Amino acid sequence: MSTGINGDNKAEAMNGTKKVEERSLGSYYDLYIPTSFDPENQVTLYLGDCLEFLATLPDESVQLVITSPPYNIGKEYEDALDIEQYKAQQRAIIEECIRVLKPEGSICWQVGNYVNKGEIIPLDILLYDCFKNKGLKLRNRIIWYFGHGLHCKNRFSGRYETIMWFTKSNDYIFNLNEVRVPQKYPGKRHFKGDKQGELSGNPLGKNPSDVWEIPNVKANHVEKTDHPCQFPVSLVQRLVLSMSNEGDMVLDPFMGAGSTAVAALLSQRRAAGAELVERYHQIAQERIRQAIAGDIKVRADKPVYEPPAESKLTTNLWKTEEQLPLVDFITTD
Ligand SMILES: C[S@@+](CC[C@H](N)C(=O)[O-])C[C@H]1O[C@@H](n2cnc3c(N)ncnc32)[C@H](O)[C@@H]1O
Repeated sequence: MSTGINGDNKAEAMNGTKKVEERSLGSYYDLYIPTSFDPENQVTLYLGDCLEFLATLPDESVQLVITSPPYNIGKEYEDALDIEQYKAQQRAIIEECIRVLKPEGSICWQVGNYVNKGEIIPLDILLYDCFKNKGLKLRNRIIWYFGHGLHCKNRFSGRYETIMWFTKSNDYIFNLNEVRVPQKYPGKRHFKGDKQGELSGNPLGKNPSDVWEIPNVKANHVEKTDHPCQFPVSLVQRLVLSMSNEGDMVLDPFMGAGSTAVAALLSQRRAAGAELVERYHQIAQERIRQAIAGDIKVRADKPVYEPPAESKLTTNLWKTEEQLPLVDFITTD
């Protein structure tokens, strides 16, 4: 694969002829990251509006689109719009993503809820027809579950978001073996029939299912930057590994802190995308350089930590004398 771009030799690198191995580690931090798309670039990061950027991409030039768009909830980088205006804006971007997608390609649109005066509108429900009306096929609606977030008073606290995975055709890449997870009972055996006594699971692990528990990037998370809503690299990496092959182009029209690019580069794919806000564009550039240098910190795709039941933090110090009999009653019966 051709590589990213070294400031010392921009022209050569722009042609994609300079190999990663040929460079010294120190030079990575001067790495010039192209802002205009070339299918040979290892990475392209446009500063500006994604529709402008998408217009420069040829038809069918991208294997995989992964993104988390603005949710229209008034974050610092967005003006909250009327919901139909928001949908129209999203539709225009989705249609451009479909145009640039290869016939065997996939789109993963990761969203949560739009919230207006306590009423929620799940954005996957709102946006589903933007894909369906263009002939795309929904393969999974993945539930991304995380244990922490805001505490709601007038409804149950939200602890999941979704990823709609669409394919452009019935002929699509799905490398299940790349993303298998450990079985709960790897020693389980067939108990009857021809295979009685033989191990019954897949030695490579089990299908990770369509419910993924991965911590969100908050507070002390090792990937946390100044960006207010990054998605975790391991979430993106499962999508990258299963839906593309090495050397393929992965696009994120809303690059934010660059998590999609980081996951793509760590998996030997190419990456391209746009970011509107200069500060986030800088953060994404920095993380891309770290990923290419091999010294970016990411949380491994591993089960969520369960604290020991008898630790200082898991001991319930709130019990009052009055509550104790009730607690005992519940736990012993
Ligand atoms: C939900 S965040 C994406 C975060 C990203 N997934 C990450 O892990 O860092 C959406 C990003 O889209 C950017 N954005 C909003 N409108 C945009 C547009 N029209 N073109 C490009 N970027 C835009 C915002 O500045 C924000 O950084």
